[in-house]
Amino acid sequence: SFEVVCARSAVTVTVPAGTSILDALYAAGVEVDSSCEQGICGTCETTVLEGEPDHRDSVLSDAERAAGKTMMLCVSRARSARLVLDV
Ligand code: FES
Repeated sequence: SFEVVCARSAVTVTVPAGTSILDALYAAGVEVDSSCEQGICGTCETTVLEGEPDHRDSVLSDAERAAGKTMMLCVSRARSARLVLDV
């Protein structure tokens, strides 16, 4: 599991294995736009303020993946113990 801090909502959630960041945020009442929930549409792209995403989407380019400034919350996870998101 890893921790996601929602900077704007002032909510912190723990994301267990098998649960998406998107579902963990919804369960905590944090509103995020989503559509495909399969990492292909880009609707849930979110700015990463701190931490290292584990990208599992089909939207970002290799350069965007390496930069780690945004991520898709529906499929991607964390390499760091904690992510801080601009949500
Ligand atoms: Fe489509 Fe996340 S909802 S990429």
